[in-house]
Amino acid sequence: MWDYTDKVKQLYMNPKNVGRIDDANAVAEVGSIVCGDALKLYLKIDDKNIIRDAKFETFGCGSAIASSSALTEMIIGKTVEEAEKITNRDIADYLGGLPEEKMHCSVMGNEALEKAIKVWRGEKVTDHADVEGEIVCHCFGVTENLIRDVIRENNLKTVEQVTNYTKAGGACGSCIPKIEDILNEMAGEAGTAEKKPAERKPLTNIKRMQLVEETIANIIRPMLQKDGGDIELIDVDGRNVHVGLRGQCVNCRVSDVTLKNLVEAKLREFVEEDITVLEVKP
Ligand code: FES
Repeated sequence: MWDYTDKVKQLYMNPKNVGRIDDANAVAEVGSIVCGDALKLYLKIDDKNIIRDAKFETFGCGSAIASSSALTEMIIGKTVEEAEKITNRDIADYLGGLPEEKMHCSVMGNEALEKAIKVWRGEKVTDHADVEGEIVCHCFGVTENLIRDVIRENNLKTVEQVTNYTKAGGACGSCIPKIEDILNEMAGEAGTAEKKPAERKPLTNIKRMQLVEETIANIIRPMLQKDGGDIELIDVDGRNVHVGLRGQCVNCRVSDVTLKNLVEAKLREFVEEDITVLEVKP
């Protein structure tokens, strides 16, 4: 499905520094499980400002795990001042590159590092909005400051690129006009941003079915099973995907959120952007 480098595959299969540090003096959490990716980063920083240890717990796809592993390898042994110069681009380069659609994983790593350093410095970090500024994309909790940083550091020009790097704009799309405004403002002239993400080539029915099955089996089901849930693919009818929730998901009060923000979001990310998920009750 994705053209991953050998380094990404290697770190996905055998990630380094997984777990928690019980006596960490900087801990930061970014992302959200309902949005599909979350990262908790633990740092142990000594009195000479050197990062002696770094560990992570990640909930997400293979490239999120590989990016988190790469980040910890890159910062252990560095001073805080050296570590904070690392950008998401450096994380992607360490991995030999990431597919454009997966760059948001490197951004998540960089975001966690910045937040952890703020925590270590004693700066007030109470929630995402306090730290990062006004939220532009409410579907994925992406702030204006993060969008501006990512545009600047990666020289982004289009809404599609911003979506690939931050996820903002990748669900309901209501934040796209605001992202366009930011792009236009940063480009220094009105109307330079593309109005819509580039269209993907339509899939054949067989290819769509195959990708839906793979995405459910390799990405969605393992996520649900972590919480005692499960999912069954019932039918694929054009772009309508009929599924049944199983296990703990059956009685879950937020099953409609799971269907929208996890199942449908992942299928839109990995299969087609206009997939609709419909629940078939048991
Ligand atoms: S608010 Fe950004 S995609 Fe929905």
